[in-house]
Amino acid sequence: MEKNNQLILALDVTEKNKALDVAEKVYEYVDAVKIGYPLVLKTGIGIIEDISSRVPVIADFKVADIPNTNRLICEQVFNSGADAVIVHGFTGRDSLDACVATANEYNRQVFVVADMSHPGATEFFQQVSEKIAKMSLDTGVSGVVAPATRTNSVENIRKIIGNELAIISPGVGAQGGSASDVINKGADWVITGRSIYQSDSPDTEAKKVVQEIKNRN
Ligand code: C5P
Repeated sequence: MEKNNQLILALDVTEKNKALDVAEKVYEYVDAVKIGYPLVLKTGIGIIEDISSRVPVIADFKVADIPNTNRLICEQVFNSGADAVIVHGFTGRDSLDACVATANEYNRQVFVVADMSHPGATEFFQQVSEKIAKMSLDTGVSGVVAPATRTNSVENIRKIIGNELAIISPGVGAQGGSASDVINKGADWVITGRSIYQSDSPDTEAKKVVQEIKNRN
C-alpha cells in the first residue's frame, strides 16, 4: 500500500452495487479500501477481487483463532485477492506467527489490532494494548491498528513501535476522531467509513479528509 493520500475507506455497506458505486467514486482519494464482515457476508468473498482490481484491499476479519485455523483463514483471504489482513494479537504470538507466515507465502501484509476505537475498548482491550504493540515488533507484520478516537493511545503506541511499524487508525468521522489530529499523533493512515459512504457525495467527503490531512498544521 503506497502512502499517498493517507486515507483508507472502510466500506461497511452491505449492497454490492452500493459498494462498487462508492468505491468507484473515491478510488482517486484513497490508498486502500478496508472490507470486513458486513459486505463479505452479504455479497460473498468475490467482492474483494472486484475491488482489489482497482485499489489495494485490506480484509478486516480481525482473525483470532488457533494457528492452524488462522492459517486456513488467511489462505482464503489472500486467495481472494486481498493485499492485507487485519488480525487480533490477544490470541498470542503463535497465532499471529501463523498469519505472518501465510502472508509471507503470498507476499502480502498483516496488520494487528493494538487497540480499538469504541467506548467498550476501555473495559478489556486497553489493559493489553501496550503488550500487543510490543509483541507485534519483530514479527514481520506491517503495522498495527490504533484508534483515532483516543489519540493518546496512538501517541503511546507510536512510542512503543518507533518507526518499525505503520499505524492505521479508524474512528475518523462518525466516531468523532479527527484526521489531522491523529496523523499528527503518529498515525500513517486514517480509516473512515460512515462519514464517506453514507454521504450524498462520497467523493466530496473523501476529498475533504485528504485535504484536511495535507493542510494540517
Ligand atoms: O464508520 P466508521 O468510520 O466508524 O468505520 C470505522 C471502521 O473501522 C469500521 O469498519 C470498524 O469495524 C473499524 N475498526 C474500528 N476500530 C478498530 C478496528 C477497526 O472502528 N480498532
